[in-house]
Amino acid sequence: FDTKTPQWSTLDKNSFAYPSARDRWPVILTQGIDDVHRAAAEATDADMQAEGKTIVAELARLKYELQHDRQLTPLPDDGLPDIAGYNKELSQLGELKWFNAPWLFSECYMYRRIQTLFRLSTYWKNHDIFSKQKMATFRSSRFAVLELAAQYRNLVTELENNSTLKSSKTEEELYKAEESVFIDMCEICLWGNATDLSLLTNLSHDDLQKLQGSEARKNSEKNILVNDLKDAFATLSQAKKDGKKERRVDFILDNAGFELFVDLILAGYLLSSGLATSVILHPKVIPWFVSDVVPKDFADLLNALASPKAFYETPSQEDREANKTPIPLSEKELGDLQFLFERWGMFHAEGELAIRPNVFWTEGGSFWRLPTSAPDVYEDLKESELVIFKGDLNYRKLTADAMWDPTTPFAEALGPLGPKSGLRILSLRTCKGDVVVGLPKGKDEELRAMEAGEGPYERWQKSGVAGEGLEARRWAWSGKWAVIQFCDGKV
Ligand code: F6P
Ligand code: MG
Repeated sequence: FDTKTPQWSTLDKNSFAYPSARDRWPVILTQGIDDVHRAAAEATDADMQAEGKTIVAELARLKYELQHDRQLTPLPDDGLPDIAGYNKELSQLGELKWFNAPWLFSECYMYRRIQTLFRLSTYWKNHDIFSKQKMATFRSSRFAVLELAAQYRNLVTELENNSTLKSSKTEEELYKAEESVFIDMCEICLWGNATDLSLLTNLSHDDLQKLQGSEARKNSEKNILVNDLKDAFATLSQAKKDGKKERRVDFILDNAGFELFVDLILAGYLLSSGLATSVILHPKVIPWFVSDVVPKDFADLLNALASPKAFYETPSQEDREANKTPIPLSEKELGDLQFLFERWGMFHAEGELAIRPNVFWTEGGSFWRLPTSAPDVYEDLKESELVIFKGDLNYRKLTADAMWDPTTPFAEALGPLGPKSGLRILSLRTCKGDVVVGLPKGKDEELRAMEAGEGPYERWQKSGVAGEGLEARRWAWSGKWAVIQFCDGKV
């Protein structure tokens, strides 16, 4: 259940894996070291402090091994069932060094190895080195959060009053009107993925606002290279029309904070519009790729919405340093946030919105292994009308992170999850890595020519340290372009 097409590798100068392993991962590890260092200094318990120092030393050791291109060592057993799989793969791959390793496996290994340090500790078991960053970035998304909360409230109120039904004359008009709202909601959800933390390590408040507002979304529509949303809508709409009682939609989540917020917006809309009768969200069980959702992030987000004044109006450390006082929320804004919170709380209380973590999502392999590695998860997902995979890493895992020709059909690149798999898959992905499939002939060449030497990663090229490959698919690294791809594996 693995692809025969070679995978992207950290050895390949043309791949984003090359600067990732050499420049980006050490920065992520340094940020982790700083986080534990700070938390240990703040700890009141001396044993906890001492253990924190050991974890810092172990993280520094991992960074050293990475930067000195040492061998990837077997993971210690920390009690989760995926360790055996990681170690089996390591032994099968032979002597594996950081700068000559499959990109997907080595990157997963790094995050999994970090987690063993915490899981095997006494005082730090539940510490998430990325948690502070995740919440701080969500707080910085205030502008877009408030804009979307207002939009959501209007939309749901309209749905409840059947306004679309009343203003549409024919069945076809109604279908088109509903389809258009569905497409808008999915595109909001898509672009929420552009701002993940593993890529944008130095994002400022202003940058975030530029990326997240509705203006930005309108400008970005032309950047969606493939858009299969009409097909996805057709299946959900048909199931509803057929009077199917249980119509479940699943989200294989990606990032916490703003992206999770827009996922909930889409989930809430699907439930309110009746396009789904239940939604199941699948987070990770361990901190992952910096910003991915773990169950606690879900609780943190809902807590922030439950007490928005405390969340937005208490000055952050950054505010205090800049001598800034946060602008108070208006009554309207408070009302919009409360509306959201109440609706989502109600869906949750009534069992229409649930979260279902599973260790499969943080294994080191691709999703081609789903049927064999996690048959229970596979069977469960077959019950769903539509499984939405969010983000770049999930796309890399769906397509096995292989060096496909970019015109390969999406259905083919899904391997065992393609046609007849029993899964109906929709991927909402902003491109932050090399793998891409399902493009029209000539598109990749056109984009390569257009974006040669452009984009935020150019500085890595200029630094002369990394990524000097001349054939790189650089356009696909920055999150500026996106693909929305659908495969109906129920036929
Ligand atoms: O390619 C850059 C990268 O940060 C990878 O580490 C990872 O595949 C991905 O982007 C993370 O993005 P997302 O949160 O969209 O999965
Ligand atoms: Mg992510």
